[in-house]
Amino acid sequence: MMKRVPKIVVGDPLDEMFFRLLRGKAFLVKAYELDQGEFAKLLKDADVVVVRSRRRLDRCTIDRAPRLKVIARAGVGLDNVDVDYAVKRGITLLSTGDASTEAVAELTIGLMIALARRITELDRKMKRGNWCKNSGAGVELRGKTLGIIGLGRIGSRVAELARVFGMRVVAYDPYVSREKAERLGVELKQRLEDLLRESDFVSIHAVLTEETEGMIGERELRLMKPTAYLVNTARGAIVDEEALVRALEGGWIAGAALDVYEREPPSSRLAGLENVILTPHVGASTVEAQKRIARVLAEKILVALENIGEMGESP
Ligand code: MLT
Repeated sequence: MMKRVPKIVVGDPLDEMFFRLLRGKAFLVKAYELDQGEFAKLLKDADVVVVRSRRRLDRCTIDRAPRLKVIARAGVGLDNVDVDYAVKRGITLLSTGDASTEAVAELTIGLMIALARRITELDRKMKRGNWCKNSGAGVELRGKTLGIIGLGRIGSRVAELARVFGMRVVAYDPYVSREKAERLGVELKQRLEDLLRESDFVSIHAVLTEETEGMIGERELRLMKPTAYLVNTARGAIVDEEALVRALEGGWIAGAALDVYEREPPSSRLAGLENVILTPHVGASTVEAQKRIARVLAEKILVALENIGEMGESP
C-alpha cells in the first residue's frame, strides 16, 4: 500500500541544502514570510514543522497541527517551543546539537575584540571624517578575566578560544562538574556574584529557562566592574534590557555587545547608545553552520520519520 508522503512545513529560512536532501522524500512547504496565523493554518495536515528561534510553537499553535509528529529546531535550545505540551502529545523533538557551536563561539570572540578595541565606534568616527588616532586606544584580552555564564557546548568552545588569547577564564554553571571545568582550564565559581565581581568580560551562554530568565538585572550589573563588558549571544530574555540600558547610560559597566534581545527586533533605545554593539541574532548565521544545520536536521528528520513508520513512497 502506498503510504502518504509526509508534509514538512519550514517556518524560518533554512539553507537550500535542507530542501535538496529531502527532495522526493517529503512534501516541503516554505512558510518564511507568513504571519503566525497563516503559518498555523498550514500546520493543519503537517507531519513535521521546522523552526529556528523566531517562530513560537506554543500550545495553541501545536493544537492547530493534529497530525504533527516531529518538531525540528534548526539550532539549539527549545525555548520557543512548549516542550511539555509537545511531549504530552507524543511529538518527537529534534535540534541540531553542535552544528552552530563554532559560529556562535567565533562571533562571541569577535564581539569581545570589537569591544576591547572599540572597532565599531572608531569605524563610525572615521566615516564621519574624524581621524581619532590619539583618542582611539583600547584594551587587550591577554591577562583579562572572562566570566562565562553557562559552560555547555558553546560556553566551553568560547573558553578554549579565550585561553588561546591568554585570558583567565572563570565560569558559573550549577550543572557542570568541576572535572569538566578543570579539563577546559576554567575555574568554576559557586556563586554568580563572584564571577560578576571578578570579570573584565562577562559572556552569556546559558539556555533560556525559568531559572535563567532575567538572571542579569540591575543588581547583577551593579556588581560588575565599571571597566567591564557584557556580551550576550545566547538569549535576550536572560538580561533585563531596561536595566542594561540604565547600566550603559550610567556607566555602571563600560559597554556591551548583543546579538539577541528580549524582543526581536529590539527597542530603539539600545540603538541610541554609543557604548553598545548590536548584531541582528546572527550567531548561527555562517555559511558553514547553516549547511551543517541543514544536513543534520534533514538526516534526523528522515530517521525520526522512519522510526515512527511515516516514510512513504516518493511523491
Ligand atoms: C539557535 O538557537 O541555535 C539560534 O538562535 C537559532 C537562530 O539562528 O535563529
